[in-house]
Amino acid sequence: SVMNQLLGMHQVEKEISQYFGIKRCIVVAGNSDNQEKVLYEFGDILTDSLDLLLPDGDNIVAVMGGTTMALTAEHMGTLETEKRHNLFVPARGGIGEAMTVQANSVSAVMASKTGGHHRALYVPEQLSLETYNSLLQEPSIQEVLTLIEQSNCVVHSIGRALHMAARRKMSDDEMVMLKQNNAVAESFGYFFDEEGEVVYKIPRIGLQLKDVQKISNVVAIAGGKSKAKAIRAYMKNAPKQTWLITDEAAANEILKGV
Ligand code: F6P
Repeated sequence: SVMNQLLGMHQVEKEISQYFGIKRCIVVAGNSDNQEKVLYEFGDILTDSLDLLLPDGDNIVAVMGGTTMALTAEHMGTLETEKRHNLFVPARGGIGEAMTVQANSVSAVMASKTGGHHRALYVPEQLSLETYNSLLQEPSIQEVLTLIEQSNCVVHSIGRALHMAARRKMSDDEMVMLKQNNAVAESFGYFFDEEGEVVYKIPRIGLQLKDVQKISNVVAIAGGKSKAKAIRAYMKNAPKQTWLITDEAAANEILKGV
């Protein structure tokens, strides 16, 4: 029955949040690997979650990029109230994504869907480290970096390590190194092995993993059976305040290994 299904889902949510020691897990029916409607539902759930999490006053929400984030953003609803104002900023700059799924685009879409504002971080993708470091001295960039540092919420996804490395056109040497270190997950430009230990980091500006630990509201959104291993690896050491929004396919696969 529908009731049993609901109870079953709640049970799975509880098991997952307990297993990772995180604050909350919300599971959407289906498999986002092949059902786009699951991603639309992520948009509704992210909106409801942020509505509960974000306090009145001025909030700064730092967001990552990726296809999950981009599609989730498209289906968000209003979060702005008379008392609550939200500014969306990209969490990290220049980690190598296509324009439409860059954190800058995601934060602009989230601002427009939720009725908030956004600020972009103009740092081109794929820069040499030298050019990159000198760009950081620019006052307009410094200003946005200060906002990012002040964020009280971060929303991100989780990807498969080698898939993300290839998508970002990382070098052959880097690919070999990731394989040798058994990297299985990626988030925030950091790569993790199955135990959730960082094995490599793309040196970029914006939020660092240690900053995320201190942010009071953290939401991770990732689903699909194909991502189960990556989600499990990253979540093992995820900040304890994390809310995980995932789908049934990933959740069942995660619990199989428990
Ligand atoms: O690039 C940002 C990011 O959130 C990564 O941290 C993550 O690995 C990836 O996107 C996920 O991408 P997708 O949603 O396209 O699988």
